[in-house]
Amino acid sequence: MPAAATAERLSITRFDGPLGAEVTGLDLNVPLDDTGFRAIHRAHLHHHVLVFRDQRITPQQQVDFSRRFGPLEIHVLHQFLLPQHPEVLIVSNITENGLPVGLGDAGHYWHSDLSYKARPSLGSMLHAQELPSEGGDTLFANMHLAWDTLPAELKQRADGLQAEHSYLAKYTELQQRSPWRPNLSDEQKAKVQPAIQPVVRTHPETGRKALFVSEHFTTRILGVSETDSRELLDRLFAHSVLPAHVYRHRWQPHDMVFWDNRSVMHLAAGTPDHLRRRLYRTTIEGDAPF
Ligand code: SIN
Repeated sequence: MPAAATAERLSITRFDGPLGAEVTGLDLNVPLDDTGFRAIHRAHLHHHVLVFRDQRITPQQQVDFSRRFGPLEIHVLHQFLLPQHPEVLIVSNITENGLPVGLGDAGHYWHSDLSYKARPSLGSMLHAQELPSEGGDTLFANMHLAWDTLPAELKQRADGLQAEHSYLAKYTELQQRSPWRPNLSDEQKAKVQPAIQPVVRTHPETGRKALFVSEHFTTRILGVSETDSRELLDRLFAHSVLPAHVYRHRWQPHDMVFWDNRSVMHLAAGTPDHLRRRLYRTTIEGDAPF
């Protein structure tokens, strides 16, 4: 067993943009000591998205590192879990023998992972296994900035409201036109019943406010008419993903990206059909938004 890595060589360089930082001097093959862990934890809270370059790690090492931040979720789409590693969801557009090896259209709409659950995810890690020569970027929107810069009139309307988040609403729609969405069993459906979330949440560790609605999962705002709900959601979505709030991650081989689902939304920008893309995602449990 290699000696634990210390924080001495660790360096965190902020991106020139609305969020994100690159972490260097860290090899995730080597267990991280507590000082190093605290440095990563602080950086994650501060920058919301961390990029660890050239991490040649196994799925078990990804699981072990992810677990430092909390227990891991097992995704409801058990069809796409990595054999021997149920904590790992395969995100991929590849088919083998006519069958998808992973969730091919994961993240094609802006979202925060598992916001459709009563306790959405704290954060997720995505590790690049196979990358296309073009396309395949992932975009991240800073939802604190989205809240901070929201026009006063919208802030007043949104604060204190609650919204429904549903996994099945978009799933059913996607099934009509996407080859990646298998039929769900009754047991799977029971695991993803809609949840009610605040439209504006407070980050449980930093106390900062963030907008918490997404085009993928938020279906309606409670207590207002359908028309008002649609109009308000459309305006909140449009504001959230203004270019000034967004970082575009261009993947490099063996990148590991770790984001905070409580402060960012993300979007898979898409990969040309003829190119292969495969990544492994671990998803850390979070707590009930307030
Ligand atoms: C996801 O939404 O978890 C996948 C994002 C990506 O494939 O870029």
